[in-house]
Amino acid sequence: MSVEDEQTNFRQNLIRYGGDTYPEIVDRAQGCYVWDSTGKKILDFTSGQMCATVGHSHPNIVAAIKKSCDTALHLFSGMIPRSVVQLADALSRIVPKPLKRSLLLNTGSESNEAALKMAKLYTGGFEVIGLGGSWHGVTGNAGSVSFASDRKGYGPGMPGTFVLPEPNAYRCPVRHCRDRCDRTCMTIGLELYDMQSAGAPAAIIAEPVISAGGVIVPPEGYFDVLQSEARKRGMLLIFDEAQTAFGRLGHWFAASHLKVTPDIMTVSKTLGGGMPLAAVITNDAVEETCHRRGFAFYTSHVSDPLPSSVGLSVLETIEREHLLQRSQEMGSYLAERLRELQSRHEEIGDVRGMGLLRGIELDVWSSGSA
Ligand SMILES: Cc1ncc(COP(=O)(O)O)c(C=O)c1O
Repeated sequence: MSVEDEQTNFRQNLIRYGGDTYPEIVDRAQGCYVWDSTGKKILDFTSGQMCATVGHSHPNIVAAIKKSCDTALHLFSGMIPRSVVQLADALSRIVPKPLKRSLLLNTGSESNEAALKMAKLYTGGFEVIGLGGSWHGVTGNAGSVSFASDRKGYGPGMPGTFVLPEPNAYRCPVRHCRDRCDRTCMTIGLELYDMQSAGAPAAIIAEPVISAGGVIVPPEGYFDVLQSEARKRGMLLIFDEAQTAFGRLGHWFAASHLKVTPDIMTVSKTLGGGMPLAAVITNDAVEETCHRRGFAFYTSHVSDPLPSSVGLSVLETIEREHLLQRSQEMGSYLAERLRELQSRHEEIGDVRGMGLLRGIELDVWSSGSA
């Protein structure tokens, strides 16, 4: 096919999967830039799909992929490659205790699917509460507790799905507060849940910062209270850190920053730096009980060597290039600029959160990328 034909026809063999696509074919991505087929160089403010936060094709990631080509790319799922051992060990050292054990998968949806299944198996319940505006993925369990968009037309979600109004102080979902959330949204939501519950509680799942639903930073202390409410009901607390781990908030994890350790944490996106890698991380007690009860999540690419090698190199890169600190610096800069804009634009709500939301995807790796 000629280049002209490619450009004219490139959509014809593709299923459209949501939203518009960029009008040109994209040829290359490097550092914080993307080049399209017309040669246009674009500053990639989205870090790919919010995954390549250490920069596209970072040399350490390329080296890890090459090393994997010389060792193993893929194995029988019952064989544990060295890179998986090393990545699980590296994660166990940086996650808040008593989180420790990892299951290495590929996508965020999958990691939340596995986390929710573990919570159901562990508690014996099936009721799951999510926060309004959340996005946890597209698979059965994960999609059921995703409320940001895309629910229409597919029939019912999982039985036992509940939603708490999101703690949005600027646009209070229960029209109660303005600029100061007093958690009435949580109180009302839990009262409604208690009324509807069939007595089979399993989990509360939350993004520490609700991302797709508008970058909503819950008020201080929100997750301490949510965790104690979960415990009162015998539910596990799951943090979905797809959008908050590995420096996105200036810390390894939102959980470490908030000082709230969930029973299960999921990480994805940024762990693979652009390669499909996700992890479910939990404590010994949850893992052991689930194992005893026959927990199975046996996929074709669970514990695959290639993505784990890349994950290891992402963690090493964050450490070696001091990206947590860099994220804090860039986050403060961004918050300052947004505060200026906020005084002129009502659309910009709660910038208080931006001090916390320290985006490292702006330009963390530009050497050799021009
Ligand atoms: C917070 C959060 N969780 C889960 C997912 C789903 O991840 P994936 O698209 O890798 O399945 C996303 C994706 O945007 C996300 O933002």
